Amino acid sequence: MTSTETPSVPIQRTRSFQLRVFGCQMNVYDGELMQASLEGRGWKSTENTDEASVFLFHTCSVREQAEERVHGLLGELRRVKKADPSVVIGVIGCMADREGQELFDREPHVDIVCGSRHFPKIADLIDQVVGGEKRVCVLGEAESRVDQEERDLTGRVEDYQAHVAVMRGCDMNCTYCIVPSVRGRVESRSPESIVNEIRRLSEMGVTEVHLLGQTIDSYGRDLPRDDRPDLAGLLDALEDIDGLKRIRLVTLHPSYVDQRLADAMARSTKFMRFLPIPIQSGSDPVLRNMKRGYTVELYRKRVAILMKAMPDLELISDWIVGFPGETDEDFTGSEEAMKEFGFLQSYVFQYSPRPGTTAFDLEDDVPKKLKSRRNHRLLELQREIAQQRTLTQVGKSSRILLERLSDRFPGNWLGRTRNGHYALLPEEPGYHAGLEVPVDLVSYNGRSLVAERHADFQMPEPVVVPEAEAPVIRVTEPVPGFDV
Ligand code: SAH
Ligand code: SF4
Ligand code: F3S
Repeated sequence: MTSTETPSVPIQRTRSFQLRVFGCQMNVYDGELMQASLEGRGWKSTENTDEASVFLFHTCSVREQAEERVHGLLGELRRVKKADPSVVIGVIGCMADREGQELFDREPHVDIVCGSRHFPKIADLIDQVVGGEKRVCVLGEAESRVDQEERDLTGRVEDYQAHVAVMRGCDMNCTYCIVPSVRGRVESRSPESIVNEIRRLSEMGVTEVHLLGQTIDSYGRDLPRDDRPDLAGLLDALEDIDGLKRIRLVTLHPSYVDQRLADAMARSTKFMRFLPIPIQSGSDPVLRNMKRGYTVELYRKRVAILMKAMPDLELISDWIVGFPGETDEDFTGSEEAMKEFGFLQSYVFQYSPRPGTTAFDLEDDVPKKLKSRRNHRLLELQREIAQQRTLTQVGKSSRILLERLSDRFPGNWLGRTRNGHYALLPEEPGYHAGLEVPVDLVSYNGRSLVAERHADFQMPEPVVVPEAEAPVIRVTEPVPGFDV
């Protein structure tokens, strides 16, 4: 039965909640933290709309579409709230920050509007509403930091991969972007608390961590000058965690790339050489209007530092097409840049004007159809480039980290090489997600690389991970660039 049909029996709501997560990996991570805190208070997560007493949306404002989707889902809950006014509905995160109190005007059935720096107290906010308070709203700066020294890991989705925030917020001023105004200024965590968290995760069976930050290569710059940590030092510190096999970094900003960081990446045995370093556009005038802080030439120099240190490095980019004033010539610049840098993966977005950003005052003058055409063109080009790059891997030796059994090619595991290429590996007893296997990449089957395990690889003892009831976090509409 869907929530819109009239139930034939009275609804039995339990002390349970439904949490839906939108947006970037940071939101997924925050979702896990909320999960832990709610379960700590005796709430159970559920997917059943007829059972849940609390509906929470952890939201994204980066494009209008992401917000409209949440408004659509909130609209569906109107009937639920009307039928049972005791149901609690909360909007958390970037949309709460952007829309603020106005959210109550548009969605009068919402009870909680909770900004992205306040979600750790979501259980208290729910208690306030249950206790009779109306329209609970917490926004802006919080009294304490979001990330605590000792993170509660109980809300984690049981898996070999884990997200770990190393910094919050963003100090850049890209003219199109809402993130700095909703998430606030950069706050880096201490290296000790990050390393400690990853060590604990590794003890739970995690072999791959994704370190998160909007400009992760600026990690530490907001902290006092003496003894200031940086990303290079953090990579070195993580080298000691034996069980940890892979570290992914999401997302680099070209402005902060330097030799010290490239060297640390190159000497790390765990750093995944598959790096998001978005260029956004291949036209200098557009980059200037976006206030990205670099030209194509500067981007080229930063990429050269990285490639020199790690010739097998693969790059990932985000692109915005149809930024105000983007001409055919500017767009050709993006096509050329995509070819020149040979990205393995790209996420392409059509420019979406965001109220409150500087670019919002510019005329959104590239017609929708043209934005869509440019979007498709870049994706098509990206497909060709990715295939060419993948073909260059045939004949190489590598290590792949097993992700899951392939649906398309039954009897095979799908894993990723250290530099991000997918490869198939015939199933064998003892294989499990998160296991790293040394392989030869022997062929390409038109979709994927095909691998053969090195004959001398010692199959590990099967790992017994303690059974836990998997929490239900629904991730909806990922924001690529954060590659959920
Ligand atoms: N901090 C990252 C990006 C975070 S937002 C960086 O600077 O690279 C993820 C992506 O969303 C951005 O890279 C950009 O490509 C896209 N994006 C952000 N604002 C947008 C907007 N107003 N319209 C369309 N795409 C946008
Ligand atoms: Fe937005 Fe990224 Fe620019 Fe920060 S660096 S303002 S998050 S696009
Ligand atoms: Fe916020 Fe992440 Fe979206 S920071 S605006 S949820 S991309």
